Amino acid sequence: MLQQAFKVSGRSAYPLIKWMEKWAESAAGSRKIDGHRMKTLKEMPGPTAVKFAWDLFARRGLSRLHEMQLEGVKRYGPMWKASFGPILTVHVAEPDLIEQVLRQEGHTPIRSEISSWKEYRKQESHGYGLLTAEGEEWQEVRSLLGKHMLLPKEVQAYDVPLNAVVDDLISKLRLLRRQHPRGLVPDIASEFYRFGLEGISSVLFESRIGCLDPVVPTETDRFIKSINTMFVMTLLTMAMPPWLRTLFPKPWDTFCQCWDYMFQFAKDHIDKRLIEEAEKLARGEKVEGRYLTYFLTRTGLPMKTVYSNITELLLAGVDTISCSLSWSLYELSRHPEVQASLREEVLSVMGDRRVPGAADVARMPLMKAVIKEILRLYPIIAANARVIADKDIHVGGYILPKNTLITLCHFATSRNATYFPNPDEFQPYRWLKRDKCYHPYASVPFGVGKRSCIGRRIAELEIYLALAQILMQFDIKPDPEGSGAAVKPMTRTLLVPETEINLRFIER
Ligand code: HEM
Repeated sequence: MLQQAFKVSGRSAYPLIKWMEKWAESAAGSRKIDGHRMKTLKEMPGPTAVKFAWDLFARRGLSRLHEMQLEGVKRYGPMWKASFGPILTVHVAEPDLIEQVLRQEGHTPIRSEISSWKEYRKQESHGYGLLTAEGEEWQEVRSLLGKHMLLPKEVQAYDVPLNAVVDDLISKLRLLRRQHPRGLVPDIASEFYRFGLEGISSVLFESRIGCLDPVVPTETDRFIKSINTMFVMTLLTMAMPPWLRTLFPKPWDTFCQCWDYMFQFAKDHIDKRLIEEAEKLARGEKVEGRYLTYFLTRTGLPMKTVYSNITELLLAGVDTISCSLSWSLYELSRHPEVQASLREEVLSVMGDRRVPGAADVARMPLMKAVIKEILRLYPIIAANARVIADKDIHVGGYILPKNTLITLCHFATSRNATYFPNPDEFQPYRWLKRDKCYHPYASVPFGVGKRSCIGRRIAELEIYLALAQILMQFDIKPDPEGSGAAVKPMTRTLLVPETEINLRFIER
């Protein structure tokens, strides 16, 4: 019709109309791809800034961010926008769409440009570690550390120091259950925090720091507390516009104090190790090491970069390990039949040996399925993020302008019944069905691609070794005098248990 109307003196004015359409679209910010009009951010649904702020601050939203993903999907569909304090973010909550985002990330992906973690480092002139660095700086350290953290052969060698830590964990659990009249280990997560810190320290420093001693050194407990408080303050400091800090300085000040302590703690341990090495050299002894600080200090990287990377690795190895193990024992205590089968698997691989190695746990399929299922139900990073800085990208029919903060809603996808039938149930056997294949982006607890978790192999090894020995030594049961009510997860930047988990350990 339009073409007919614009036929001027026998010549078609169609190119003119096309040009006008294109002009109108670009003025409105939209484009056509393969004949389909791409929608703009303006057209994307989502709560108003006031409604979202109300949900966050008045309805305990900061600790329910994972649940708000489920509410968001119900209300708006698989993509919606929201203003997190001063930051506009687009939520993406379908595996296909998450895949679309991650496939368009560049050579050096950016997790989040707008982070209070980065601001603190800038303010205090600290370096960036792998969690916070970007661009070529990130790439350089990633390839250096990757050689020691991602190659299976390299990682397997950590089973010896990690098993020494597991031995101490078992002794500590034994001590705690004996001290309790009902054989309980109260608040199991706090023991696993200490185990996590001791484990990552053994990998980073090849030395022990006493977290599992009967009396725990105060500085290690203070380090763990600093991590916890820093995580609580992270979301708050991001959601608060900087001008609010002059009116309410406490969150930012507390956040900075926690980081100060963590950086100092890491520096003290690195310096101590370097002094020991220097003394050895002075005595004419050979210095050799199989620990990450050793490798990193020999790369020629500035010490500022070494300090920041070790600080961030220490931090990354504590809550992640603690939560995975706490949720594992929690679910296994509530599913005694799975616990019995897993124990059987461990015992059949081990025969009459008592200490499993990396090669043993590699032959335990149910063990791997249990951890996959735990991380599906309780993805420690319930929402990850990406910023694509070099170009606009197309996702789910929308154009997302470059530098948009994109929130990847992993909790929503891994609890979606379309991808995982009975999504709220602990069903580890789902991962062992030969005829079943899950969407590769539906449950990605370690992330995907170049920027995915560099500690994955170490974490998995540590968790398998600990779980195997715990099951060989103990039957795990729920607290008989507990309410029996389910422990729910809550967001504290990471997804952690909302209440204490108390478990009964019965010696075998
Ligand atoms: C069950 C345990 C763990 C889980 C579920 C986990 C999960 C994750 C996730 C989801 C990311 C972000 C990936 C992305 O943005 O695509 C990440 C990044 C990272 N993780 Fe882990 N993690 C675990 C344990 C560890 C451990 C033990 C370490 C240290 C040894 C570690 C070190 C790191 C580092 C340094 C990064 C940043 C990587 C980079 O940006 O290049 N993680 N982790």
